[in-house]
Amino acid sequence: MLNEIISSAEFIKSKVHFKPQYGIILGTGLGGLVKEIEIKHELEYKDIPNFPLSTVKGHSGKLIFGLLGGKNVVAMQGRFHYYEGYSMQQVVFPVRVMKFLGIERLFISNAAGGVNPGFSIGDLMILKDHINFFTAHPLVGKNDSELGPRFPDMSEAYDKKMIEKAQQIAADNKIKVQTGVYLGISGPTFETPAEYKFIRTIGADAVGMSTVPEVIAARHMNIPCFAISIITDLGIENKIVELTHEDVLREAAVAEPKMSLIIRLLVEGC
Ligand code: HPA
Repeated sequence: MLNEIISSAEFIKSKVHFKPQYGIILGTGLGGLVKEIEIKHELEYKDIPNFPLSTVKGHSGKLIFGLLGGKNVVAMQGRFHYYEGYSMQQVVFPVRVMKFLGIERLFISNAAGGVNPGFSIGDLMILKDHINFFTAHPLVGKNDSELGPRFPDMSEAYDKKMIEKAQQIAADNKIKVQTGVYLGISGPTFETPAEYKFIRTIGADAVGMSTVPEVIAARHMNIPCFAISIITDLGIENKIVELTHEDVLREAAVAEPKMSLIIRLLVEGC
């Protein structure tokens, strides 16, 4: 696997003479941040050896290299979800490639369902921790010590200093943010009312189908992570309504500019 990661990274370096300092993964319907990137190069996933292809609506599937907040970044427009049928190794493959491109920090966005009764649709939630509820784990199998240790520490999955900075940025810009625990689950079904209740009971504030595998792979490689959710729907008793992917995309688009501002200013200030 290490060979595949290195060969993808070498291919990218041969095409794109640009060293990214930070990596960004843009979630469902959250590609708006791209407009703020001064784009230098783009590479479609389909043209990168060993890269999986993105299948879900709202994900176009390319790596974007450019300047954001004065920093060299590589952004994934479109991510790989476990529910699409990829293996966990495929889901986290681009994160590992980004490490070999030289990224020192990882910024992630996603859409999530709120289960904390204090949350409203359109809220932003900075992740302070997660619960891995996927049925598979990206680090199962032979450990490659060139990537990281067999038993990685997860006591600070989300970098405390970046969380504080992001909270300050939100306050300075009068943007309401929540901070909470994200539970990652495979999907693709949205949750039943009983499942939302269970997810709340075991300590989560929001639930979604991404982010956790990527953060695990990044922490394995000792990359500090920051992640933020847009609460697109509510899994709260008496507030649960029928939900479609279109509803998630619509609500994500409404709150996206606030989130992009926070990420840009955080990238600038890190
Ligand atoms: N559940 C799981 N994933 C999601 C949700 C949800 O309610 N909303 C957006 N992604």
